[in-house]
Amino acid sequence: MKEKGITLRDIEGIGPATEAKLKEAGYLTVESLAFASAKEIEEATGLSYEKALEITENARKLLGIGFMTAEEFYKKRQDVGYISTGSKALDSLLGGGIETQAITELIGEFGTGKTQLCHQLAVNVQLPKDKGGLGANAIYIDTEGTFRPERIIQIAKHLNLDPNETLKRIYYTRAYNSDHQILIVEELLEKMPKFNARLLIVDSIVSHFRSEYPGRENLVVRQQRLNKHIHDMHRISNLYNAAVVVTNQIVASPDVFFGNPNKPVGGNIVAHGCTYRLMLRKGRENQRIIKIFDSPIHPESETVFTIYEGGIRDVEG
Ligand code: GTP
Ligand code: MG
Repeated sequence: MKEKGITLRDIEGIGPATEAKLKEAGYLTVESLAFASAKEIEEATGLSYEKALEITENARKLLGIGFMTAEEFYKKRQDVGYISTGSKALDSLLGGGIETQAITELIGEFGTGKTQLCHQLAVNVQLPKDKGGLGANAIYIDTEGTFRPERIIQIAKHLNLDPNETLKRIYYTRAYNSDHQILIVEELLEKMPKFNARLLIVDSIVSHFRSEYPGRENLVVRQQRLNKHIHDMHRISNLYNAAVVVTNQIVASPDVFFGNPNKPVGGNIVAHGCTYRLMLRKGRENQRIIKIFDSPIHPESETVFTIYEGGIRDVEG
């Protein structure tokens, strides 16, 4: 589906001036245009709606996006890989682990273990297949500055992995604002193969959006941008058979904007954009209860895991 080296200029109807406008608005790849709505392009670039529509349609044509048969789809599903979470109970709840070709959302209040799970997955994806990994690298986009290499070292040691080698296989970047975050993911659409990665982590997906677009009056723009961002992540997960894991903090305070207490921020866009949604809450001591809901193929059910020095594991007993 993806041709190497196609650029915006390969899209019919894009000359140098239009190309410049699109790039300035952050549309760097054919994919980013193919999956944007005409309205969004119109607003971001000042091009006419008709022109924007022509561009998205031609971008889609160029990428050959269209129907596949259910049989072809089924074949593609056979390639789905699973990354172990470190807890057998959780893996079995998920039907094998965190899936590739999907976005998994970890939702929970502060301290429920979202970031801990991300750390564990960044290590586990490196394991060979028979040990619950994909023998591949991880990309970690950190929006809150809570990634800790020291934690990776601890987790690696408990798995008898060389800590330095493990660190070398995690590509880390800090996203400083939502534009930056979107741009990083856009660039990954093209550059993913360079990293030999099968896992993309965004911890957290919404924190920048939440602080930069406060209030109802900003809701539309924020949701449009989030929508595009999530589309890009879906493209990555499908093009490169990769797992995408995003975190989403629950804001318990009712006075926070758009704030239904105890509802994940991001609203419908994030809810509908993610394939699997996992809700975490605190249990006794280091135990965490995790529930899968809204899943197209899993029954709604929950299980418990423990956070310990070596990362994530089953509750002993
Ligand atoms: P926010 O990012 O604030 O929304 O929270 P989060 O869901 O990402 O929480 P995080 O994953 O950072 O979990 C933090 C919790 O993990 C701490 O409260 C500890 O209970 C636990 N934790 C972290 N490191 C260790 C460790 O080395 N040993 C044990 N036993 N627990 C740990
Ligand atoms: Mg966190």
